Amino acid sequence: MKITIGSDHGAVELKEEVKNVLAEFEGVEVKDVGTFTTDSVDYPDIAEKVCADIVSGESERGIVLCGTGIGISIAANKIKGIRCALCHDVFSAKKSREHNNANVLAMGGRVIGFGPAGEIVRAWMTTEFGGDRHERRVNKIMALENK
Ligand code: RB5
Repeated sequence: MKITIGSDHGAVELKEEVKNVLAEFEGVEVKDVGTFTTDSVDYPDIAEKVCADIVSGESERGIVLCGTGIGISIAANKIKGIRCALCHDVFSAKKSREHNNANVLAMGGRVIGFGPAGEIVRAWMTTEFGGDRHERRVNKIMALENK
């Protein structure tokens, strides 16, 4: 599975830690679209870069990070085809896969520590979509894009 990851300046260190956690998974290829320094950048630009890879099919999933995770998740969810879940706990991360088939995970580098963030990534990577009634609901979410 290929994953595209990106962060603004508020989560550069968390991005490195998430990449360390992703390296635990065999067969997972990671593409990092930046940013790579703490110089200020605009999180919508990062969301756009990461999500472009999901929409084009280059990557199956994405991880977006900013200071709070809020701005970058809002931006990601403006892009057609993206279901971005802002998760700061393991339960939500699992449910975002099982119930919502989230294809992008968001977290905030100024909100969460490395340990909990790593557990969230592990849970998100290993939980499958539940399908069935959840599929009907996700289809309804996606239909909202065309209304
Ligand atoms: C950048 O200062 C900050 O606004 C950003 O990282 C994020 O928290 C926005 O939601």
